[in-house]
Amino acid sequence: MTVVGPFGLTVRDTALEADVLTGLSAVEHGLNEATKSDVPFINEAAQHLVRAGGKRFRPLLTLLAAQFGDQHAPGVVPSAVVVELTHLATLYHDDVMDEADVRRGVASANANWDNSVAVLTGDFLFARASRVLADLGPEAVRIQSEAFERLVTGQILETAGPQAGQDPIDHYLDVLAGKTGSLIAVATRFGGLLSGADERTVSVLTQYGERIGIAFQLSDDVLDIASDSDASGKTPGTDLREGIATLPVLHLRAMAERDGRPEDRALVELLAGDLSDDVRHAEALAGLRAHPALEEARRYTIRAAEEARETLSPLPDGPAKAALSTLCDAVVHRAG
Ligand code: IPE
Ligand code: IPE
Ligand code: MG
Ligand code: MG
Repeated sequence: MTVVGPFGLTVRDTALEADVLTGLSAVEHGLNEATKSDVPFINEAAQHLVRAGGKRFRPLLTLLAAQFGDQHAPGVVPSAVVVELTHLATLYHDDVMDEADVRRGVASANANWDNSVAVLTGDFLFARASRVLADLGPEAVRIQSEAFERLVTGQILETAGPQAGQDPIDHYLDVLAGKTGSLIAVATRFGGLLSGADERTVSVLTQYGERIGIAFQLSDDVLDIASDSDASGKTPGTDLREGIATLPVLHLRAMAERDGRPEDRALVELLAGDLSDDVRHAEALAGLRAHPALEEARRYTIRAAEEARETLSPLPDGPAKAALSTLCDAVVHRAG
């Protein structure tokens, strides 16, 4: 049994393991090729985060989804490359938006160079993703562009915050589905589509991708508070510092409102204030880590992952379905 993917995922079936390992190494090759430039500076900036690693969660999903058709079909690996390149580009942009200094355990592009370099490198990567995507045909282009619109809309809605009268948890869940569920749904949909799986199967895989994507982001939001930077490769408490209210904070606010405990109210106040100060930031982080609101968010995340697992039931039993099911546990029990 070999570890074949992120979060120590193991695959028990040797044929599947070989397929996934071969596929992932072809994806690495594709990523490497697609991020090359004749301009040395662009080359360096574009390959910076590719070389730093990352979990390659989305390509893994594409490869597993392709098991429901012909996994060796020519479009499968390029489609995984497109999704990872798009993801990578959004990371360059997201770190500018979040003023993040660390990504994948190395300096973010904005910290290493500056915001302009990070934004333009992100654009360069989108251009390269489009180039690979064009060869996959108009349907793939349409799917990707619709998802990308949802992703960007999610990022913008997060920045804008809830509309007047909108429930903040509903807003939060809309943001999550848009900014993360959309692209992860493309990862599994492309695997199904480009391997030639039947329409019903592709639809199930798409639903699964959307659901596991939501669970993945819920878990990322818990980890922003609970994890340390060695495990996540990012700076803990970035969401707090940026004033982005994720589920643990939303639960805390609801509890403070409902129960009126003074210590909860004090933590809500602290979180609403300026957390650019390191001492206040550390205090807020420690307060949330010890608060039952974090546990509640974890429980919600586990339920979301269970919903992802339930979508798998129409698929034929076998090693690929088992691996997709295992991933539902892995996304919530990961450390980074
Ligand atoms: C980070 O994605 C952004 C989110 C949508 C949570 P990943 O956690 O997949 O980042 P890498 O690719 O492993 O660096
Ligand atoms: C960003 O979410 C999701 C996208 C890049 C679309 P986060 O801001 O939570 O991602 P991290 O935590 O920086 O990886
Ligand atoms: Mg971010
Ligand atoms: Mg995050």
